[in-house]
Parts: sequence; structure tokens; C-alpha cells
Amino acid sequence: MNKDISVIRREYLYASLTEAEMSADPVEQFHRWFEEARTAGIDLPNAMSLATAGSDGMPSVRIVLLKDYDSDGFVFYSHADSPKGRQLAENPRASLLFYWPVLDRQVRIAGVVSHVSNTEADEYFQSRPYASRLGAWAAKQSSVITGRKVLDERMGELEVMYGDRPVPRPTEWIGYRVKPETIEFWQGRESRLHDRICYALSGDRAWVMQRLAP
Ligand SMILES: Cc1cc2nc3c(=O)[nH]c(=O)nc-3n(C[C@H](O)[C@H](O)[C@H](O)COP(=O)(O)O)c2cc1C
Repeated sequence: MNKDISVIRREYLYASLTEAEMSADPVEQFHRWFEEARTAGIDLPNAMSLATAGSDGMPSVRIVLLKDYDSDGFVFYSHADSPKGRQLAENPRASLLFYWPVLDRQVRIAGVVSHVSNTEADEYFQSRPYASRLGAWAAKQSSVITGRKVLDERMGELEVMYGDRPVPRPTEWIGYRVKPETIEFWQGRESRLHDRICYALSGDRAWVMQRLAP
């Protein structure tokens, strides 16, 4: 087995980042970068790592999909009775991370988590494809199952149960909104002298922009 991973590296030459070009509003700045990631043809540019920790303090991270964002926060959907849902109930704080390699960019967000309204969650749930709506009912997320067959059989039962009728949103399937307190934009640069611009909320809830050492 070739385990020589220590040589895997490259220079980051795509772009630079100056304070002058940054928006005063980090959500607007995120929007610019997100649209550039989209235009660059990045597969699932809305895939983000979600880090949580419950009351035991053990960090836990996984990918979820960003489904909405604005000045109120960054929204994803999941199961409240999953490990992440339980951790967020114990400690409603989270960190989000986007990495867009072809742009040499990383965005790191941290903030306080709340639930989106039932109306908002219902609206998004009903916009999902039929099979995804049924899938939300198929099994408790992250529970141990005896095999794939369990899911296939359950999906068959759900198809019979609902047929062409509307599939309601499971009450535990909810939306989470991360209201940012810090947002950091990282642009890889040559010789590891990366540009890092971090916005943090000041005491009077205004965004303050600072450059961080690479
Ligand atoms: C590309 C991708 C997108 C995903 N999107 C979601 C999502 O939006 N919501 C979700 O609950 N899980 C999503 N998952 C699955 C999670 O990574 C994870 O396996 C699941 O939520 C269970 O996490 P937990 O046991 O920490 O609660 C996605 C995984 C991948 C790889």
C-alpha cells in the first residue's frame, strides 16, 4: 500500500482577498462567494460540514445541505431525534464549514441555533421529491438497522400507505437556523500566506472585520 501522503500538497494560486473588496455585510460577502462557487460548477456547493457538541462536550461533525440563508441565518434540515438533533437540543450552538477547492476557498461560520417555523419547514418539506418525503418517514436517523431490506420494505409500505395522497412532514423532521456570530473567509495564497478575513459581532451587534494571520 502506498501510504506516502506527506507529499500531497499544492500551491493555492486562484485569487487574493483584500479588505477593500469585501462587503461590510458578511452575509452579502457569503452570497458573492456562494454564487461564484455555483458558477464555477462545483458539485453541491451547498454541502457544508456541521459541527456540534452536546452536553458531554464531544465534538461531532457531518455534512448537511444548506437550504436557505439570509441575515437571519443559515438553514439546514434534519431529524430532531438524530444524534445531531439531540446535541443541538442540549447545546444550541454550531459551526458550519464550506470548502470549495477549485476556488481555494473556505468559509467558516459559528453561531447560535434555533428552529425554523413549522410553516417554513412544511413549505420546504413539500417542495422535496415524493421519494425523499417518504424517505423522511422510513427510519429513525442514525438508529441501528438489521439490513438494507428494512428500508426497502418500509418504503414499500409507505408507498402503499400514502399512494398519491400528500405526505405530511414528520414532526421530528425540522429545520435549523444558525444565526452567525462569526464568519471567516479564507482564500488560499502562495507559500501558505493565505488571506483570512473574519467578521465578528461587536457588543452593539455591528459587524467588525479583522484580518487573521494564516
Ligand atoms: C452530501 C451530503 C448531504 C447530506 N445532507 C444532509 C442533510 O441535509 N440533512 C441531514 O440530516 N443529513 C444529511 N446528510 C447525512 C449526514 O451527513 C449524516 O450522516 C446524518 O445526518 C446523521 O448524522 P448524525 O448521526 O450526526 O445526526 C448528508 C450527507 C452528505 C454526504
